[in-house]
Amino acid sequence: MQNLNQEKIAETVAFIQSKISAKPVVGIILGSGLGGLVDELEINLALPYEEIPNFPVSTVKGHGGKLLFGKLGGKEVVMLSGRFHYYEGYSMQEVSFPVRVMKGLGAHTLMVSNAAGGMNKNFKVGDLMIINDHINLFPEHPLRGRNHETTGPRFPDMTEPYSLELVSKAKNIAKQNNILVYEGVYIGLQGPTFETKAEYKWLHIIGGDAVGMSTVPEVIVAIHAGMKVFGMSVITDLGIREEMNVITHEEVLEAANIAAPKMALIFRELIKEI
Ligand code: HPA
Repeated sequence: MQNLNQEKIAETVAFIQSKISAKPVVGIILGSGLGGLVDELEINLALPYEEIPNFPVSTVKGHGGKLLFGKLGGKEVVMLSGRFHYYEGYSMQEVSFPVRVMKGLGAHTLMVSNAAGGMNKNFKVGDLMIINDHINLFPEHPLRGRNHETTGPRFPDMTEPYSLELVSKAKNIAKQNNILVYEGVYIGLQGPTFETKAEYKWLHIIGGDAVGMSTVPEVIVAIHAGMKVFGMSVITDLGIREEMNVITHEEVLEAANIAAPKMALIFRELIKEI
């Protein structure tokens, strides 16, 4: 049976607290090619994943593989530079473990970013989308297994997983800084294949504006843990096109890199307002 390992979480939290006394209030998870926000962080402590007890170790190109602590936008934050994807072979408990740790350290808000394929007809490569809802198409659920009421409810409400207050604040920030942002629904699925033309079409029909291979498990666990969530996608390729488009991981990273500074600005300014 799959169980959330509360002892492991407590052990990891205690280890980190023995290294740093500051209490992070915001947890941040950066997506592929979106590590630029790291440069804005006044880093107090950088812990490589392999030095943190119970932490999974990242394998994907373009991921930093460090848990960072420091100040951003005047607040103490904890930043996961390099997330854990289900397609790498991690269990859902492993994928979402860092979110439990962030919460255990004191973070009340989770901010996530990702690279995603665009299906909304208005989208262009490099556009930013604030996630206002999601559709979970992962084959496994991070909350499957025995529930511990101390960590969250058995049947969490999902009517507003992405805080509308944070969405509204982020839209204002974007407007004030002349940054074009869209709002939309993110569909999370397992990968690692990019979608076929027929799959992109179907994902659009069922209500998706963007699709990717992350975020949803982390957000579900954050909601379960009682955190507020804000998420953004950078559109790195387009699934809805006349001609067949070939997508490569390199292309995704390149597009993400170009959009990263705009997203970093929104994240930083939003943290100031939290
Ligand atoms: N599909 C799934 N995941 C992705 C995509 C995509 O088109 N682009 C970046 N991540």
